[in-house]
Amino acid sequence: MKTSTGVASSLILRLDSRSPTPLHEQLFEGIRARILAGALAPGLRLPSSRQLATELEVARSTVLQALDALTAEGYLVAQAGSCTRVAPELPILAGDRSHEPGLPAAARASSVGPRLAASARALKASLVGAPRLGAAPRAFRPGVPALDLFPTALWARTVSRVHARASTGLLDGGDPSGNAPLREAIATHVSVSRGVRCSSAQVFITAGTQQAFDEVLRLALNRGDSVWVEDPGYPGARRAVLAAGGRPVPIPVDGDGLDVGAGLARAPRARVALVAPSHQYPLGVTLSLARRMALLQWAERTRALIIEDDYDSEFRHRGRPLTALQGLDDAGCVVYVGTFSKSMFPGLRLGFLVVPPSLVDVFSAARASAPAPASTMEQAALAVFLAEGHFARHLRRMRAAYRERGEALLEALHSDCSGVLTPSPCDTGMQVCASLAAPLSDLHVRDGAARLGVEVAALSDYSLGRRRESGLVFGFGGVRPDDMRAGTRALARAIEAARRR
Ligand SMILES: Cc1ncc(COP(=O)(O)O)c(C=O)c1O
Repeated sequence: MKTSTGVASSLILRLDSRSPTPLHEQLFEGIRARILAGALAPGLRLPSSRQLATELEVARSTVLQALDALTAEGYLVAQAGSCTRVAPELPILAGDRSHEPGLPAAARASSVGPRLAASARALKASLVGAPRLGAAPRAFRPGVPALDLFPTALWARTVSRVHARASTGLLDGGDPSGNAPLREAIATHVSVSRGVRCSSAQVFITAGTQQAFDEVLRLALNRGDSVWVEDPGYPGARRAVLAAGGRPVPIPVDGDGLDVGAGLARAPRARVALVAPSHQYPLGVTLSLARRMALLQWAERTRALIIEDDYDSEFRHRGRPLTALQGLDDAGCVVYVGTFSKSMFPGLRLGFLVVPPSLVDVFSAARASAPAPASTMEQAALAVFLAEGHFARHLRRMRAAYRERGEALLEALHSDCSGVLTPSPCDTGMQVCASLAAPLSDLHVRDGAARLGVEVAALSDYSLGRRRESGLVFGFGGVRPDDMRAGTRALARAIEAARRR
């Protein structure tokens, strides 16, 4: 930018003596904004402090305070003889009006913004149509556990006990891989309840599933590598692949789970397969044994990695939970991802990875630069919660509650929506999928239901490639049995309205 040696005859500044912002700060901001906007050119001499004080009708000390601050921050340079100039080498681009005062903040921010990776654009596009995050859940938002039954007082006592007795090691941040007693407790828990084969050294604490996906994919993928993702599937999985610069390849899911044969045909050289074998989301199906074996054989043959998302299979309503895929993995291809978002509460933001022995070193190295992104106190409190048996008791109660709530939902759907909605069997977890009779559009029904205060998800929202049959996904975990009918009655009205469209 051209520098100037002339004198700014007037700064055309107006100060507001009634504003809560002190006058010297207003003056500071006014001059700074003009410099950044290029209205006061580099090298330009400012009027003397005395002249400015007279022009602006303020005390000279007010002017001096502002000029001193601008000089200290490098916008102005003071020269011998008390002359003050705009700094001669400010890196401001000619024509840049982005800091001009008077423009609203939104208008000042460029509508284009800094250039980002192509993956960032794909990530942004993937949010279109996604439910608004952060709003309080209503019936039947999928993925919400029975928060009304969480033993809040017991948890609060456990957390406060841990805080009161915290060692300096705990206050300092602890092991970057996670709290040792918690890793130990998790290793024991998943071997007993999920058939996972591991030692505590293979367990890494995460801030939930999404962060676990990010961490694994960052280590596994080079830019543009293909990843099998289930179609329909969990939107968080696809987003994590996009965020890591990978290419999600939709692989269809049928009654036997992920169609491994289709995966082999579409992307045989994929680096990663991201699957929920025990309770696929959102269809709720289980990956058959034949496909589990085919998936493991493919991964072993091509040295691909399988990420097993085991988000809610602790909650098999009756009988023993199914064994995890990781328990069948002799070649060390599976990274098992668990979360406490369902078994405790989503706001806890705690989960874990179980990595194969061959990957322990690289994950430990990764943690040296990005330690466990979770509070050491909460980790320690969770370790106590598990060790004292509260977690196992809570799981037992939840299993019974989900069985009761699932049955109540199926009865309510039968009473209010039979003939239009056909639910799949519901023996695990806290959501169920139901197909919608043709020609009803699941998107129309979803939107109509939302207007009546009912929050169902449309199966189409989870589909990536081909169009699927119309269907709705119901979360029943957070809905009390007595409240089911109010939801299904409103839903029946929304279906009726969609039929008349
Ligand atoms: C398929 C699936 N995986 C994982 C999660 C849990 O995610 P997080 O642990 O990040 O809360 C959910 C939550 O709804 C889910 O539906």
